[in-house]
Amino acid sequence: MVRRWCGAVLGAVAIVALVGCGKGNDDGEDFGNLIAGAQGTQLTRAEHPTGWGRSECFLCHPLEEIHRVDRSGTGTLPLADIRRLVDRDRLGSCPLCHGSNGVN
Ligand code: HEC
Ligand code: HEC
Repeated sequence: MVRRWCGAVLGAVAIVALVGCGKGNDDGEDFGNLIAGAQGTQLTRAEHPTGWGRSECFLCHPLEEIHRVDRSGTGTLPLADIRRLVDRDRLGSCPLCHGSNGVN
């Protein structure tokens, strides 16, 4: 029930991402190479219009779908380490690498 609802939200989000920023594709969790963004992996209001100011990241980015693919172009992202850290510290870990996301 809850999972199905999440799927619907993700679907909607994927469409918004596609239409909204033009750099997405049909993979809901592919936002391209973040390292190349203006602030690296730190989120900014401009690149995170849909999620800015929200703290409940997993609503839109399910744990099991993030940090699966290295899109940095370097092939050296320590994704296994990132996943381990995120598994352990959950939402508390996100600001370490993605900044405050406008949440204080
Ligand atoms: C309401 C849904 C929603 C919530 C909540 C949300 N996000 Fe997002 N996130 C998105 C969408 C949609 C995108 C694609 C860019 C956009 O349109 O905002 C995105 C993109 C991203 C990206 C890629 C940014 C880039 O440079 O392309 C990261 C990293 C991210 N989110 C992390 C987080 C973190 C960390 C949190 C919690 C602090 C969070 N998100 C909360 C919907 C959300
Ligand atoms: C140790 C650093 C680190 C932590 C902690 C971390 N991330 Fe990330 N995250 C990254 C990096 C690096 C990328 C960029 C991957 C790429 O560009 O290929 C990324 C990418 C993302 C993306 C874009 C989609 C993807 O899978 O590449 C989302 C969404 C995201 N993170 C959400 C989160 C959320 C939510 C949390 C907290 C639960 C979190 N991150 C914690 C380093 C981190």
